[in-house]
Amino acid sequence: MRKLMIAGNWKMNKSPSEAVVLAENFDQKMIKDLRVEVVIAPTLLSLPVVVQKLKNNNSNIRVYAQNCYFKDEGAYTGEVSAKMLKSERVDGVIIGHSERRQIFNESNFLVNEKVKAAINVGLQVILCVGETLIEREEHHVESVIAEQLLEGLAGINDLSSLVIAYEPVWAIGTGKTATPDQAEEVHQFIRKFISDRFNGEMADKCRILYGGSVKASNANELLAKPNIDGALIGGASLKEEEFLSIIDIASRL
Ligand code: PGA
Repeated sequence: MRKLMIAGNWKMNKSPSEAVVLAENFDQKMIKDLRVEVVIAPTLLSLPVVVQKLKNNNSNIRVYAQNCYFKDEGAYTGEVSAKMLKSERVDGVIIGHSERRQIFNESNFLVNEKVKAAINVGLQVILCVGETLIEREEHHVESVIAEQLLEGLAGINDLSSLVIAYEPVWAIGTGKTATPDQAEEVHQFIRKFISDRFNGEMADKCRILYGGSVKASNANELLAKPNIDGALIGGASLKEEEFLSIIDIASRL
């Protein structure tokens, strides 16, 4: 059985003081169920205070960054390294989110460098993949995802600290969700890809999250699919009731 992961990507929202309040509220109010792993990803600026507060409270919420750079240190203005995140006791990092790919032009090559650097320093990784609307309409979903995985995971032999998030770009922040069947179809494809590229055991163990307009009202039918092992949630993860409800739904599955 794969442990479900419910991950909140807060994107560029919440000041450090607001982030601490939201994180503490989640920690105090959420259902504590060992079968569900809860992750939050505040902005870089909020990471140290949120990590400190949750560790002081002995929380089992995991704190992830939304991005990192692959060099340890040096003349890379504006960047923060995976190594620095690790030294601040951050648990993991989201890599290759479609907003990073589209707005900041991140290539599969750069994504791969970041994945390797993060795993090397001992961070957990959520690697995001997903097709655009045009790619879906032109029936390129599988080839796009396969390329993102092949290039994004180049040089990696062990997936034990990696989770994949399938996030169709057309479903992110748009209110349009992939239907559970559409999502399950791609998740099956990803698991088969991992089985072929790595092996069956890794494919069985690797968690594949769905992301794109997940909310309390659609979480149940998505999470009930056999190959959907959790959710990466943007907008709804900033709303206390919504996010708590999704955790609750996951704990009942
Ligand atoms: P959304 O974002 O839930 O607001 O669609 C998901 C994501 O970008 O990870």
